[in-house]
Amino acid sequence: MFPLIRNRRLRATESIRRLVRETVITPDDFLVPLFVVEGKGIKEEIPSMPNYCRMSLDHLEIEVKELWQMGLCAVLLFVKVPDDLKDNKGTEALNPDGLMQRAIKTVKNACPEMLVMTDVALDPFSSYGHDGIVTEGQILNDETSEVLAEMSISHAKAGADFVAPSDMMDGRILTIREALEDEGFQNTGIMSYSAKYASAYYGPFRDALDSAPVDIENVPKDKKTYQMDPANRFEAIRETQMDVDEGADIVMVKPGLPYLDIVREIKNEVDVPVAVYQVSGEYAMLKAAAEKGWLNHDTVMMEQLLAIKRAGANIIASYFAKDVARLLG
Ligand code: PBG
Repeated sequence: MFPLIRNRRLRATESIRRLVRETVITPDDFLVPLFVVEGKGIKEEIPSMPNYCRMSLDHLEIEVKELWQMGLCAVLLFVKVPDDLKDNKGTEALNPDGLMQRAIKTVKNACPEMLVMTDVALDPFSSYGHDGIVTEGQILNDETSEVLAEMSISHAKAGADFVAPSDMMDGRILTIREALEDEGFQNTGIMSYSAKYASAYYGPFRDALDSAPVDIENVPKDKKTYQMDPANRFEAIRETQMDVDEGADIVMVKPGLPYLDIVREIKNEVDVPVAVYQVSGEYAMLKAAAEKGWLNHDTVMMEQLLAIKRAGANIIASYFAKDVARLLG
């Protein structure tokens, strides 16, 4: 009771604030998304993601060594696939010598201890820009899961430590887990995008990979029949619980900042590590505001990441990872 209790005593100096701080951000918290393209000597900035690049394999090698030096220990790989290699079934995703498979090997050769996670979804390989096979205006569920399982095996064979299915088909975690076990990859983990919302914050990412749904008759214009409705909360818990039951080692909520209520709820509900994806649109918003001089880049960045971790994130996939490592270093 006042004046016996004065909360400001615990805020009086930086030292006491350090002593009682509940949440601390370190490079260990991060998963670094990387965008890989074909070619040589390519490092091109993505227009809607300032200071973030697509890179060819030679630059990927340099990049992962630098990340490791900075204390970052895990990457999440995405590939941009040339249009002429795209089809409805994402056939190129299974090419043992495809860009993803070569990217995994490149990272592992450059930096064997770097944890490699791979995006498992059809959209970068799909001529329709969907995460599943499209037939008569529908996204086929079980047929897609089968392809995702084959894709996961292909990534595991190339050396991936974890596969990260980002597609939101029903039952795909079980299909992938069983396939990995059958093929002898019992040590390959699964990080499931378990509560992934149909969000407009993915815009810059789709620019980066040229993977947006195409505007063709009889092809859905959005991903609302598989990604979740932003209005829903209970469904996120059900989705996540199902993925844990099906064998997911890590679950994920995506996007980040606008969905922190969901993050906390899931953290309270499951006992596996919870990852949060601070997505491309979140990154773009802060970069744009900072460019205009409207927000202080570094302090807002740290405040946002603290909020994500405080809400319950054990792992944060973020385009700010390198900025943070630099700031903390
Ligand atoms: C593809 C995928 C997307 C993202 C990660 N994996 C886009 C989408 O679902 O349309 C978004 C990441 C971001 O916006 O940073 N399945």
